[in-house]
Amino acid sequence: MQFAGSHILSIAQFERPDVERVFAVADSMEPYAHRRRVTKVLDGAILGAMFFEPSTRTRVSFGSAFNLLGGEVRETTGFEQSAIAKGESLYDTARVLSGYSDVIAMRHPQEGSVAEFAAASRVPVLNGGDGSNEHPTQALLDLYTIRKELSARGRDVDRLRIAMVGDLRFGRTVHSLCKLLCLFQGIQVVLVSPVELRMPGDIVEQLRAAGHDVLESEALESSIRHVDIVYSTRIQEERFSSQQEADLYRGRFRLNQSIYTEHCEPNTVIMHPLPRDSRVTARELDDDLNDNPNLAIFRQTDNGVLVRMALFTLVLDVAEQVHRHARDVNWYTGGRFDGL
Ligand code: NCD
Repeated sequence: MQFAGSHILSIAQFERPDVERVFAVADSMEPYAHRRRVTKVLDGAILGAMFFEPSTRTRVSFGSAFNLLGGEVRETTGFEQSAIAKGESLYDTARVLSGYSDVIAMRHPQEGSVAEFAAASRVPVLNGGDGSNEHPTQALLDLYTIRKELSARGRDVDRLRIAMVGDLRFGRTVHSLCKLLCLFQGIQVVLVSPVELRMPGDIVEQLRAAGHDVLESEALESSIRHVDIVYSTRIQEERFSSQQEADLYRGRFRLNQSIYTEHCEPNTVIMHPLPRDSRVTARELDDDLNDNPNLAIFRQTDNGVLVRMALFTLVLDVAEQVHRHARDVNWYTGGRFDGL
């Protein structure tokens, strides 16, 4: 794939070498993300961060990634603050805002909206989540994390065994992650959800067509026994017609330390796109896992910055110039990046 000037809308755009390219560039971003070096390669560039749905880590990590490359961020959050509330179309909004930025990161509650916006944009658009459809940058950071966690255990992404748990119907992160896994080989996927929240059939088909072994289940404990990764997700309550309907599913699958100890193989990696729902009625990942060294959720969020930096440098075609515009940091940075 040609990255320079491209939108990043869907995992369908990626071939395996493209993924490898993103990961190699992400690796090279570590000195900057971990505050050992500073680069000004995007000095003068502007990111338009347009988040029309709640977001903390996706919005802030896109912004931090851009800042770490020396660029500036302009944010629009929520419909009420934007002219969309006055009836402006996505087309007009895209024509206008792409005149103010060099690249745009966007999240929107409607499936297909980010692609519609991108079609009218004059600059590259990165999809930060469009309804329950896709979240391609999250899938890339998830796979980047999986690859790092497995390689620390002497394993590879090919022949991975993974359980995805929770709201597989509305969870866009697992939709994109499944599509991404189709580029690899011999993967065993266990899809654990209530029947009503199963993974969409077309995605299950894609996994099978890629030669992967797919099992659908409604039982957590038997499904997490022989996997390398347990990828837990939140019930996407904002996509249900009522809170009462979401209440039916919240708290259905809870992983805590005692279930982990009893049912998982040692060193099974625990992941979650976050936010985890820590209310007593949900707790899909209990706080008592916080000291478990295999809990990779905060390594995922740290990795998100590396992967988003890589995507910015690729679509803006500066990946080769980053180090030329760099120097060492001059302040105390401590040891806060002591993950894998
Ligand atoms: C997810 C999302 O917004 O799709 N979060 C994220 O981007 N890291 C998952 C969620 O909200 O449950």
